Amino acid sequence: MSTSPSPFDAIILGAGAAGLFCAAQAGQRGLRVLVIDHYERVAEKVRISGGGRANFTNRDLDPAAPHKHFLGNNPQFCRSALARFTPADITALLDRHGVAWHEKHKGQLFCDRSAGDLINVLLAECEAAPAAGGAVTRWQPCRVRGVQFQAKETASPTGDCAGSYLVDSDQGAAAAPALVIATGGLSIPKIGASDLGLRLAKQFGHTLVDTRPGLVPLTFDGAAWAPYAQLAGLALPVEISTGDKKTRMAFTEDLLFTHRGLSGPAVLQISSYWRPGTPIRINLVPGVDVAAALLAAKARSRKLIANELTQWLPTRLAEAWAALDSAWQRPVNEASDKALTQLAERLSRWELTPTGTEGYAKAEVTVGGVDTRRLSSQTMASRTQPGLYFIGEVVDVTGWLGGYNFQWAWASARACAEAL
Ligand code: FDA
Repeated sequence: MSTSPSPFDAIILGAGAAGLFCAAQAGQRGLRVLVIDHYERVAEKVRISGGGRANFTNRDLDPAAPHKHFLGNNPQFCRSALARFTPADITALLDRHGVAWHEKHKGQLFCDRSAGDLINVLLAECEAAPAAGGAVTRWQPCRVRGVQFQAKETASPTGDCAGSYLVDSDQGAAAAPALVIATGGLSIPKIGASDLGLRLAKQFGHTLVDTRPGLVPLTFDGAAWAPYAQLAGLALPVEISTGDKKTRMAFTEDLLFTHRGLSGPAVLQISSYWRPGTPIRINLVPGVDVAAALLAAKARSRKLIANELTQWLPTRLAEAWAALDSAWQRPVNEASDKALTQLAERLSRWELTPTGTEGYAKAEVTVGGVDTRRLSSQTMASRTQPGLYFIGEVVDVTGWLGGYNFQWAWASARACAEAL
């Protein structure tokens, strides 16, 4: 590769949430940063996030207990970064730029107007670098052809500037002593997602934790799903769980029926924990003792069972459910106690095994990624390759639905920028 070394202190691959925020923070520390992204627009996932309003963080985040809202082989890894850049820090940043935001349910914070406001904040923060003696240069759209590390002939005793990263790209070659990988996850390739970060991690000797789509709708075998396919579009609050006694995870959220399976916040949350071949369990009537209520109704009601069920379920679901068994297609006073108890049992413990997920085309995140065991939780730096950093979703840290993934992007970017 021909090199015409550029005057950069760091090269950041990826102009998404983490890459732009890291560039801005490093630039404002006086560093000269080059950001390279192959997609035509910056932070496209921010733009489409949160229904176009970006659920940019969550107030309900305890950095001392990251396992509550993050998964990965070592959820404790994100503790330090999350403690040093909190949800209050990102809201303060938006306040400084006059961007209005509001809280929705469960601590989720959204922009009032549009996710574009948040992207403008990130770009304005990059533009503030020269005032601090730094600079943020962006090459975009620009394809990365390859990266090489050239070690210095005499390594510095402190380990600093042990060499130079040479990035060959469509816009030419650039070199810097630090390389930050912020290329995100694998979901939604049509807006720029790629496996470059994972390939570079391997190239530089890092191990990967197997990747799979997360926060993704679950799908079911066509024939088995036929009785429920007519319910597409119907939503209701449920309790959903997966895993065995040791690994059980449960969420109480809304479930949405789709033509091919299940979605909605409940299913997206559980999908990050679901393992192929294992069942999920759904309580369609959380907090209700349906068996007791139906047995009591027997004495006074001649309504069809389906009609009784509409006390707790949307009508279409009540009718589809009662149609599943001939013993349930009759007035409640004519049903046997056994049939009513079985009906209640199935409603509160609907067990079903997904055949798969909607995949990376529909997933909000990628579970797995660069193994955290070889990264510093303080700085996001590689422990084995000098000057190499990984931030954001490319790392094996996955947040719950609700703003946690962006909070990880901001926090890991900040931790890295402070160390560059
Ligand atoms: P991000 O994906 O933001 O950026 C990676 C960048 O790297 C992209 O600009 C990409 O083009 C670039 N890149 C990739 N390959 C490259 C290559 N080969 N060469 C050069 N550049 C390359 N999270 C949340 O907290 N709240 C929310 O509301 C939502 N909503 C949401 C909706 C949808 C539809 C999706 C798909 C995702 C979300 N998320 C979310 C998740 C969130 O968007 C995600 O976790 C963060 O954007 C991750 O930030 P990163 O900077 O790590 O990656």
